[in-house]
Amino acid sequence: MSTPVRIAPSILSADFAKLGEEVRAISDAGADYIHIDVMDGHFVPNITIGPGVVKALRPHSDKIFDCHLMISPVDAFLEDFAEAGADIITVHPEAGPHTHRTLQAIKALGIKAGVSLNPGTPAKMLDYYWDLLDLVLVMSVNPGFGGQSFIDSQLGKIEAIRNKMEKMGLDIDLQVDGGVSAVNAQRVIDAGANVLVAGTASFKGGPYQYAANIKALRGKG
Ligand code: DX5
Ligand code: ZN
Repeated sequence: MSTPVRIAPSILSADFAKLGEEVRAISDAGADYIHIDVMDGHFVPNITIGPGVVKALRPHSDKIFDCHLMISPVDAFLEDFAEAGADIITVHPEAGPHTHRTLQAIKALGIKAGVSLNPGTPAKMLDYYWDLLDLVLVMSVNPGFGGQSFIDSQLGKIEAIRNKMEKMGLDIDLQVDGGVSAVNAQRVIDAGANVLVAGTASFKGGPYQYAANIKALRGKG
């Protein structure tokens, strides 16, 4: 792989009582992206963060704000997240109904667009989105919560998507999210991922551990 591996800590595992400090600490510790999990209690069985929180966090970091929207409907909120400071907005085709149009709308806002596939969603789904994509996110857990176990069957999907990207000559991010840790990071990288999302593994042990946690996630480096 040509691009170096990048680490996107998910702030879902941060201390929500001091989110600004946490975002600063994880940025200083070497995070490449700040992964922000937005959940609505409808598409996924949990409720987390809205655009107001993203806006409040924006002054705390100059890293890429990577907003993973697990909400349905999504279209009405794209502009709010872009204005709040999102650099990337990733959406789920399973949350529908018109993902192609949603991706067009994200691009029209002048930011990067990603599609995220649930563990049960086939990679084939991407075939009609490629020209609109800056990022593909493979979910290696069912979305909704941090701290779940990595689903091994997703390694084959990551590999298939990387192969397809190479065949098409596409230089876009392949991100993996859910249950990623220092123990399996190298396997995920070997399968073809170049951006690893990690919540539990990034924030464990408190701020003094963050730099070591991120280093461990980079694999052999
Ligand atoms: C799950 C979220 C993930 C989650 C990852 O729906 O999209 O980003 O926070 O957490 P860990 O790394 O703990 O599995
Ligand atoms: Zn996520």
